Amino acid sequence: MTTRANELTALVTGATAGLGAQFARQLAESGHHLVLVARDETRLRSSAEVLERDFSISVEVLPADLTSDVGVAAVVARLRDASRPVDVLVNNAGIGLLNSFEKNDVDDEKRHLRLHVQTPMELCHAALG
Ligand SMILES: NC(=O)c1ccc[n+]([C@@H]2O[C@H](COP(=O)([O-])OP(=O)(O)OC[C@H]3O[C@@H](n4cnc5c(N)ncnc54)[C@H](OP(=O)(O)O)[C@@H]3O)[C@@H](O)[C@H]2O)c1
Repeated sequence: MTTRANELTALVTGATAGLGAQFARQLAESGHHLVLVARDETRLRSSAEVLERDFSISVEVLPADLTSDVGVAAVVARLRDASRPVDVLVNNAGIGLLNSFEKNDVDDEKRHLRLHVQTPMELCHAALG
């Protein structure tokens, strides 16, 4: 039997595919309300519809590119909004690069590092603060 969360809210990055979609589904199943973050707004909205329908929870969508300052700032602002607390943060959004390090474009390596290291650090800092 699944234990139901008592009005807790979880924010999941990269929530529309793969592992992130599964994290979101399992959090919804245990009664968490959700904030879903990814770049593709259409896919976010359709994921939110399914989760709201299947689990009777509320789901916000927050389209953001987490390799960009503006995208990270939007998610930081949401995490810092004391009027709508976020109880659980899942830093899941990520990408793989096609080639070995020395063959990849250095700008792709910089985006990769940002998405996997700097962005999760900034989101953790905002969530804990
Ligand atoms: N799958 C594996 O075997 C594996 C192995 C080791 C580690 N991981 C890590 O586990 C995590 C999930 O992997 P996965 O395979 O489940 O990924 P996935 O299926 O490719 O899904 C990636 C998710 O992240 C979002 N995303 C990608 N770039 C983004 C960006 N710049 N800003 C915001 N959202 C972004 C995507 O949506 P949009 O495209 O709409 O933004 C999507 O929702 C990643 O961090 C990955 O590095 C995976």
